[in-house]
Parts: sequence; structure tokens; C-alpha cells
Amino acid sequence: MSQTRQLIDLELEKGAHNYHPVGVVLARSKGSFLWDVEGRRYIDMMGAYSTASLGHCHPQIIKTLVKQAKQLDVTSRAFYNDQLPPWLALLTELAGADKALPMNSGAEAVETALKLARKWGETVKGIPADRCEIIGCEGNFHGRTLGLISLSTEPQYRAHFGPLLPGMRTVPYGDSRALERAITPRTAAFIVEPIQGEAGIRVPPAGYLRKAQALCRKHNVLFVVDEIQTGLARTGRFFCHQHDEVNPDLVILGKALGGGVYPVSAVVGRGDVIGVFQPGDHGSTFGGNAIAAAVSMKALKLLSDPDLMARVDRLGQWAQAFLKERLQDAPVVRDVRGRGLLIGVEVAPEIGARCLVDELKTLGVLTKDSHGVVIRLAPPLNIRKKHLRQALEAVTKVVQKARVPVS
Ligand SMILES: Cc1ncc(COP(=O)(O)O)c(C=O)c1O
Repeated sequence: MSQTRQLIDLELEKGAHNYHPVGVVLARSKGSFLWDVEGRRYIDMMGAYSTASLGHCHPQIIKTLVKQAKQLDVTSRAFYNDQLPPWLALLTELAGADKALPMNSGAEAVETALKLARKWGETVKGIPADRCEIIGCEGNFHGRTLGLISLSTEPQYRAHFGPLLPGMRTVPYGDSRALERAITPRTAAFIVEPIQGEAGIRVPPAGYLRKAQALCRKHNVLFVVDEIQTGLARTGRFFCHQHDEVNPDLVILGKALGGGVYPVSAVVGRGDVIGVFQPGDHGSTFGGNAIAAAVSMKALKLLSDPDLMARVDRLGQWAQAFLKERLQDAPVVRDVRGRGLLIGVEVAPEIGARCLVDELKTLGVLTKDSHGVVIRLAPPLNIRKKHLRQALEAVTKVVQKARVPVS
């Protein structure tokens, strides 16, 4: 039996079946490449869901990680550490924000933002106790906690996990009129992704975020933007919402914030909102530890490079044009869309993206389907153009020859 088969079988036997991974067992990574246990090399077009934005095992990130791990590791927030304050200073400066609050996973950071919104709603806006409402968008993905699945519209994410949290409402994504109708005097916050990644790289209509922000301002509702997947240069701007020139009250970050090697997330934004937390209101043993802060500091310095962002912009436009041109006559293609290096190729539901993704693996390109019908393309931001081209050629080859099955 191959090593791949043995390891997959062991995982299936001993692990929970809460994922359905592509059948490859990875053992090594470097830059834009991944290697499996049999020594086969793949181009990474997945980027760990926008986490490996700097490429895998970036030498400066690894150096910082190792150095800091030998110097001061996890000491909890019972004490101050010497890495967290400069990280807070850099992150708030880059974000144009007053304050930041560190957590670990993306879901934790979104939960943090929603807790902030509820407390702000009651103590500042004056919403009666236990009556706060949060508005999200249909098709959202903010994470897997009980609070966040309460805002989800995906039946599988919610089924059998009730009772879910009250006070969560959703409106169609991209529809500012629906948002206005949904706002009540009890609405504390509206939370939105600038591009819905998990829903299939859905880009909202131009001007949507601006209208949403204006409505939030008009009704004294916090405008909260989840940039966990889209932020930190992924779309050619430091934040994706900068394409729309909005200025959210809270921004949520994760994934690439940890340099691809360490879980780091954060809420950044208005001082008077983040300032509602008092000691004991919220926390996390690992959040803001010295290793997280040091690694994330290095990641932020690398990801805020204007040359990198300009390159992502250019490369993203080139990649979309390449795919659109090559796939214009492909019978299964429904759409090619995205921004920067977050691109989706939507195919007919009768064929689905999973079989195409499995075929791409055999051509040495790894990615995953998003929402069943979209091939997600989110490589490291520093991928060389020739490797990106190779990967896109494989995508076009697989997609061009696919046919909708005749029933
Ligand atoms: C937009 C968005 N928000 C939140 C999350 C949850 O992050 P995590 O898986 O780190 O909890 C994700 C993860 O894919 C995401 O894409």
C-alpha cells in the first residue's frame, strides 16, 4: 500500500470526518510549491485559503519564528510582553485605526467583533439589554462557532446545532435597499465580506460597500468588514475595502496575518468601540503572545510593501484576462471573476468543480472547489509569473475539455 493511502486511511480511522480533502498527503513546502509524501511537486493555487500569501516557509518569517521561540514564548496576557506593543502600533498605523485586539483564529476574531458590537450597542447606543441585532449577508462565511453559524445561511452549517443565537438577521449580499429595510433601532452592527470567498468568490456590485457604509452611519450602526480572506494585499490593496474607499468601524483580519506559519487574528478599528471592553470581558490564552506578535510583525512588514500590492494588481488582471480569453468558448464555464489574486472559475452545476480539482492534482496543481461549482485560485502573492502561467494553463486544459454530462 502506498504511503499516501496508509496515511489517509489512518486519518480516516482516527480522525473526525469534518473535511473532505483532495487525495494528496503533503510533506514539504517552499515558496509556491508543495510536495507530497511520494515526492511529487505541485504548484499551490490554494494558498491555504489566503494564508500562505508570502509563499510557504518564507525565510524571514521562519527566521523570526525560530528566533522568537528561543527568546520568549507564550506567557499569557497575565503579563505584558515586549513584542505585543510594537505589533499593535504597526498594525493600527497600517490600518489607519485607533486600536487592535489580537486573537488566534479567524472565527475567534469575528466573535470578538460581534461581542464588541453587542456591548457597544447596549452601553453606547442604548439598545435595551439582550435585544441587540446583528445583520449579516446571505452566503456569508465568518467561521464555525455557534455564534457565527447562527448568522450563516448555509443549511448544512446550521442543521442539528441548535438552538442557535437570537438576534441574527441576514439580507441578500450586494443589496443595499434590503439592508436599509432590515435595520431597526436595535441593530448594533452590519458585518460584510468585501468579496465572499467561501460562497464562490462573489464580488458585490460597484458602490455596494459605500452605500452600506452610508446606511450604517445614518442609522448609527457599526460597519464591520471581515477581511480575513480578502485583506493583507490579497486583492492588490492592503484591505480589499480600499477599492471602494470606505472606512469601516471595525476590520477583522486573520489567515495571512500569521505569515502562513502561526495562527494570528485581530480586530482593528475605532478606539471608542474596542474601548468598551473592560478587563475580564474577553480574552484568549494564546492571543497576542510574543511569538504571534513577532511573526505577525514581520508578516505585516512584508505584506504592506506597495510594490507587492502593485504586482498583485497587475498579475491578477493578467490572470483574469488570460482565463477569460482561453475559456470564452469552454462549454462548462459560467463565469470568471475575482480581484487581485483571488479568482474563481465558475462551472456548470451539472459537472461541479470537485472533479476538475481532482484532475488538476494529476497535472501538478493543487486547489479546492469553493461552494461546489467554483475553482478557487488564490496562490501565494509572490508566485513567479511563469509558475502562475503553468498553473493557469493546467486549469484551462482541464476546464476546456470538460463536458456537461448528457442525462
Ligand atoms: C471571510 C472569512 N471569515 C472568517 C473565517 C474563519 O476563519 P478561521 O477558519 O481561521 O476560523 C474565514 C475562513 O475561511 C473566512 O474566509
